[in-house]
Amino acid sequence: MFSFLRRNRTYIDVPVLEVDVHSHLIPAIDDGAKTIEESLVLLKHMQALGYRKVITTPHIMSDTYKNSPKTIQKGLEVLRSEAIKNGLSIQIDAAAEYYLDDGFLPLLSESEMMTINSKYLLFETSYVSKPMQTEAMIFAILSEGYIPLMAHPERYRYIKDPEREYSRLKELGVMFQVNINSFGGHYGTLAQKRALFLSRNGLIDFLGSDVHTRKQAESLQNVLKSDNYKEIYRYNTILNHTLL
Ligand SMILES: [Fe+2]
Repeated sequence: MFSFLRRNRTYIDVPVLEVDVHSHLIPAIDDGAKTIEESLVLLKHMQALGYRKVITTPHIMSDTYKNSPKTIQKGLEVLRSEAIKNGLSIQIDAAAEYYLDDGFLPLLSESEMMTINSKYLLFETSYVSKPMQTEAMIFAILSEGYIPLMAHPERYRYIKDPEREYSRLKELGVMFQVNINSFGGHYGTLAQKRALFLSRNGLIDFLGSDVHTRKQAESLQNVLKSDNYKEIYRYNTILNHTLL
């Protein structure tokens, strides 16, 4: 009886995610892995956690990380061939994490976009100040036929009224990718609190590792076993496996 109660409290049937949708594994292209050796360490961690596929997402920012489909594709090829040489079977694809800055709208109208399964456009904004044009940029993403997927909505400190502001984003057609490590407090107590808010209100669509470093890869292991993590599956329909 005790185990029955415990099973209900911790919400069993937590599936293995299988697909990760957010990480920085391509070496020396952004603030993620610095060398191919680091990339391989991170990939090994992901494979050991049960992931069968990673869709890695280098930053594209107009002033800091001027990546393009060309730089990302080139890095992806190196990463894939080194992974195979090192006996890793995990599948590796790439998209990008777009920063909503002044350079974003020209990119969207003029160039090929690095999206997840040709469908979801992963984007982030400043952590501290909300970009003036956020809604206009979301409309532009939708009008190009993509689904805007907001990276780590729990981490934006400019969100002061989560109920109203997250609802507004959802009304606009934005989907949410929450970082797994936020549930363990890796990004501080506010991000953890917001991740739990998003979880308990059924607002999460995708979960991401957002792995840049070995420390982040290592901490995933504990969070994936935690009650905060297991609870997600009680309230949310997580779509990662649809990308396999
Ligand atoms: Fe990221």
